[in-house]
Amino acid sequence: MEESYRCWLQYRFVQDTQRFYQYRKWVSNIVVARETEIINSAARELQDALKSMLNLKPSIWRHPFHQQPFLFLGSYEDINPENHGISASLLNRLDDEGYLLKTVNNQILVIGKTDRGTLYATFHLLRLLQCEQPIDSLEITDSPKNQLRMINQWDNMDGSIERGYSGNSIFFRDNDFVDDLTRVKNYARFLASVGINAISINNVNVWNLETRLITKEFLPKVKEVAEIFKSYAITVFLSINFASPIELGGLSTADPLDRDVQKWWENKAKEIYQYIPDFGGFVVKADSEGRPGPFTYHRSHAEGANVLARALKPYNGKVIWRCFVYNYLQDWRDRSTDRAKAAYDHFGPLDGQFLDNVILQIKNGPMDFQVREPVSPLLGAMKKTNQMIEFQITQEYTGQQIDVCYLVPQWKEVFDFDTYAQGESSTVKSIVNGSLYNCKYSGVAGVSNIGDDVNWTGHALAQANLYGFGRLIWNPDLSTEQITKEWIYLTFGIHQQVVEPIKWILLHSWETYENYTAPLGVGWMVNPNHHYGPNVDGYEYSKWGTYHFADRDGIGVDRTVETGTGYTAQYFSPCSEIYNSLECCPDELLLFFHHVPYSHQLKSGKTVIQHIYDTHFEGVETVKLFIKLWDSLEGKIDNGIFQNVKERLKRQLENAIEWRDQINTYFYRKSGVPDEKNRMIYR
Ligand code: GCU
Repeated sequence: MEESYRCWLQYRFVQDTQRFYQYRKWVSNIVVARETEIINSAARELQDALKSMLNLKPSIWRHPFHQQPFLFLGSYEDINPENHGISASLLNRLDDEGYLLKTVNNQILVIGKTDRGTLYATFHLLRLLQCEQPIDSLEITDSPKNQLRMINQWDNMDGSIERGYSGNSIFFRDNDFVDDLTRVKNYARFLASVGINAISINNVNVWNLETRLITKEFLPKVKEVAEIFKSYAITVFLSINFASPIELGGLSTADPLDRDVQKWWENKAKEIYQYIPDFGGFVVKADSEGRPGPFTYHRSHAEGANVLARALKPYNGKVIWRCFVYNYLQDWRDRSTDRAKAAYDHFGPLDGQFLDNVILQIKNGPMDFQVREPVSPLLGAMKKTNQMIEFQITQEYTGQQIDVCYLVPQWKEVFDFDTYAQGESSTVKSIVNGSLYNCKYSGVAGVSNIGDDVNWTGHALAQANLYGFGRLIWNPDLSTEQITKEWIYLTFGIHQQVVEPIKWILLHSWETYENYTAPLGVGWMVNPNHHYGPNVDGYEYSKWGTYHFADRDGIGVDRTVETGTGYTAQYFSPCSEIYNSLECCPDELLLFFHHVPYSHQLKSGKTVIQHIYDTHFEGVETVKLFIKLWDSLEGKIDNGIFQNVKERLKRQLENAIEWRDQINTYFYRKSGVPDEKNRMIYR
């Protein structure tokens, strides 16, 4: 099997002899105190890993014994805490998915509060072994900070993936499920290893065939997939079509207040749960980019979501209702409509109207996963509504897994952003972990970046985004540095000559991508439809509401209260004033909020035009440096991965050069201002 296929679960042989024998001492005997499907997955993972890392086939026992050291795998009901020096209060602090790893006398306890925790504890232990950490005196407790930790697949049943850059779907092919679910199982392992606990397996745009996923034609297959995920503590959801009562049920309407429609959904829920008793629920994209929704019947989104929520409620199912709702048929001549305002305007007034098993899923920014956007003002704006955040792991606008763009630093910034929704320290992470408003349900979703490419993510370094997403949403307080190092250790080993160059590339990649693409938060400037490569005016006169308004004097979108669209008023104070003020607005978001002359001076001391030139020249130079650093790894890492990234970096350089030259020439022609440093700008 190719190394890249195994992602961060390489389980490479432990070379260090001291560690090798230390580990073997502890893990040669494993006591599996109880058998559940999930604990069996954990035990299987351990056995496979130990074979590969220590060339060891551990003996499996049902009961503890006295002398030899052993690993004890179970849930906390299987032990007597006092005998192991574990206080009741410590266990109480763990939530249902939490765990304890503790070395006591002759055993290492791998104990979950429930079997889900045991699985996470096992992966934690394996992480320690792979990073060649000592395990002689472990005392680790951990619980996830977020409740729902979800992946959204955007897979279609014809096998294509919307915004997929890593081949075709691992779930579907030729308008059906794939026959061989081996890859799905491996995917479940990867996801569980970083703590993901939910997945929706089909695209949010639910086309004709996918609408039928909730019928008896496909439910047996959904069940099969759900069972695989279930054995890794991952709950399966489906994206549904709001017009299903018409398309599947033959009704004349999908009006959520229509009694027949309500009945239809109730029966449908009953049917689904007969197949999959622990089905997660529905993900819904409604009234968005042409998809059907409650607006057709002059009903609100709350009414739309609640009809589904009521149907799922008896089974504990949830409705994840997406807030990506905006006018996608805008006229560029109309300067009063501002797409950035749409989610807040649509959903804000509905606060308190959603049933308690509805969760609103809000994209991290108000536009659409640009390399730089402010945080969505809807996050935190609804005090009485469950909410979760949506990130995009797949690199639609951030280089499409041709260019390296490690997104953990971006997500971290979003989590740490203070919304001031309840005064200081109302960070995004405190909203999506449910603590700020005491939400019943909350969490984080990410749009998947995997496909059936051998290395899963097209660009091998993009595996770091999936790993980092899982680790960061488990605990948003983990540092970027730690997550990045972990991923490199696990994937490539712990040798500094390998670790340092890769770390440097990853940690500089987001900034670099930003440098050579759209400047200062203005966004877009990409080729329409596929969204790769520069096209400064590609979206300037389009219907999508995505404009930069560059003219000969200046650039940017005026979103101020006084002279612009008034978007800044959607933030809590002092964010609203900071963004509204030309003086206070942070440089990196300046053009998102303000229209300024090219001569406007940034806080950095540079003019806007000079900043544009400088960052675009710099961006290309940094990509050249990436190439140099990467070349230094030849022969030191797996050759397949080496060649894959080398080829991608070459294409990234071409892309960066194209961006640099188009952007610089465009703004030179518009402004007539030459580069202070006299570098090559094509006329
Ligand atoms: C973006 C993306 C679409 C996707 C949409 C969504 O606009 O380009 O492909 O369907 O987001 O999030 O629903």
